[in-house]
Amino acid sequence: MDIRIEQGRAEKYPCELLLLFSFELPERLEGPFQDVNLEWKGFISTLMKQGDFKGELFECRLFYTQGTLPAKRVLLTGLGKREEFDLEKWRGASSKAGQFIRNSGFKQFAFPIKEFDSFSEEELTESFVIGLLLGIYQFNEFKTLERDKIKEIEEVIILGETAEEMKLLKDGIRTGKIISESVYMARDLINGPSNQITPTVLAGKAQEIAKDHGMEIQVFEISQAEAMGMGAFVAVAKGSQEPGKFIILEYNKGKGLDTIALVGKGITFDSGGISIKPSENMDRMKDDMSGAAAVLATMQAASKLQLPFHLVGIMPTTENLPSGKAYKPGDILKTLSGQSVEVISTDAEGRLILSDALTYSLRYQPKAIIDLATLTGACVIALGDYVIGLFSNDEPLLKRIEEASGKTGEKVWRLPLWDEYFEYLKSDVADFRNVGTRAAGAIIGAIFLSKFVEKVPWVHLDIAGPASIEKERPYIPRGGTGVGIRLVLQLLRDWKRN
Ligand code: BES
Ligand code: ZN
Ligand code: ZN
Repeated sequence: MDIRIEQGRAEKYPCELLLLFSFELPERLEGPFQDVNLEWKGFISTLMKQGDFKGELFECRLFYTQGTLPAKRVLLTGLGKREEFDLEKWRGASSKAGQFIRNSGFKQFAFPIKEFDSFSEEELTESFVIGLLLGIYQFNEFKTLERDKIKEIEEVIILGETAEEMKLLKDGIRTGKIISESVYMARDLINGPSNQITPTVLAGKAQEIAKDHGMEIQVFEISQAEAMGMGAFVAVAKGSQEPGKFIILEYNKGKGLDTIALVGKGITFDSGGISIKPSENMDRMKDDMSGAAAVLATMQAASKLQLPFHLVGIMPTTENLPSGKAYKPGDILKTLSGQSVEVISTDAEGRLILSDALTYSLRYQPKAIIDLATLTGACVIALGDYVIGLFSNDEPLLKRIEEASGKTGEKVWRLPLWDEYFEYLKSDVADFRNVGTRAAGAIIGAIFLSKFVEKVPWVHLDIAGPASIEKERPYIPRGGTGVGIRLVLQLLRDWKRN
C-alpha cells in the first residue's frame, strides 16, 4: 500500500473517499471537519443534530455526496469523548476507519491531518499510520482459494497545507511505516507455521536483514554452540532433526555507542519435549518464537530509524521435540555460565535456551539487557493476553519501560523478583532446577533467568499472553501480534531524553 502526502484542503479535494474524525458530540466543529461542514452547507451539523453520527468511539458512518463536494464519499469516524482521548484511541480509530474502508471494498482514501491540543501533526501522523497499517494486517500467504475476494486498500493520501506541515507529515509517515513494516515482518514469522518458519529460516531472515542494513551477523550451528559450552541450548536443540541456530545480529558495531542487548526466545515449535504438552491448543506453540521475531523486527526498525545505539540481538532458535536424542527429566545440564541445572520438565525449555543467550550477552558489556520471551503459561493465567509480565533488577530501566508502555499502549505489569522465590528452584543434585512449583510460575521462570544476568540492568518481558491473541483488539487482529517491538523501539527513541 502506498501512503503519500498531497497539498490540499479537505473540502476542495476530489477523491473516492474522504475520511474525517470527530469527538463525541463536540460543542463546536473544528479544523477540517468544520471546513467540510461549511462547504457542505452545514450537512454534518444537521446529521449530528439528527443523531445520524454521534462521534462515539470507533463509530463509522459513510455518506455519499452526490456532487455536493469534490469527494465522492465521506466517512465520519468517532473518537469518543474529547477528555478521554489519547494516542491509543487514535490508533484504534485509525484502524477501525481503515478496516471499514477496506471491508467496504474501497481502494483509496484521502485524509486531512491537523494538530490539536498537545498532539503534534508529526505524532498524530505516525500514530495514524501505525494504527491503520497494524489494523488492516492480514495473513493470507497460504490461502489459495478465492484469492480475488481478498480486499486491500491500495492508496492513502494524507493532506497537508503548508510546506512546514508537509515536512512533519512526511516524517510521521516515514517513522510510522518503518515501525509498522517491522511489526508486519514479525507477525508473518509468528503466524507462519513451524514447518515453514524453522530455525534455518529465521537465521536466513537475520542474514537478509544484516545484508540490507549493513549489520554484523553470526550464526552458530549446534556443534559450535556445543564447543562453546552452551549446554542448555544444545540440550533442547538435540531433540529435533531440524537444526537449531544460535543467531547474533549486531547493529552499529564498533562505533563506541552504548550497547543494549536484546535477547529473544526462538522456539519455533514447543511440543513440550519428553514432558509433552496436551494436544489441545498445541498448534498455538508455533508462536513460541515471538520473542526472537520481536528482536529481529526491532533491530530492523532501529537501523532504519538510525537509532544511536550499538544493539546486539541474540536469538537462540530451535524446536522443542521429543525424540531418541531428546533431553529428559532428571538430566543435568552445564550452562554456558558454568552453573548446572537439573531438568525437571523439558517443557521449561525457554529459560534453558535463554540462560545461555543471557550469559553470552554479557560478553558485550551491555548497559542493559532486555529479553522477550513467551516464557510461561502461568503469566497468561496471572495477567491474561492483554498484558506483558514485566520483571527487572533495575528501577531506572523499569521506569523507562513503563514510560514507553504508556506511549505505545502495550501494557506491562510488574511482578516481583524477591529472593524468597529462589527457594523453589533449589536442587539436591545441581545448582538449581529448571522448574519450581506451579504457584508463582511466571515469577519463578524470571528468577531462573535472573541467575544469568549478573549485575547488569535487565528487564524480562514475559509475552506469553499477548504474543498471539484469539480475540481481535482495535488495531491488533487475531493471531500473532508483534507485541514488544513498538515498546522497545519507544524505549530506545526516548533513552537520551530521560
Ligand atoms: N512456551 C511455553 C509457555 C507458554 C504457554 C506460552 C502458553 C504461551 C502460552 C513454555 O515453554 C512452557 O511450556 N512453560 C511451562 C513451564 C512449566 C513447565 C514450569 C508452562 O508454562 O507450563
Ligand atoms: Zn515449553
Ligand atoms: Zn516454550
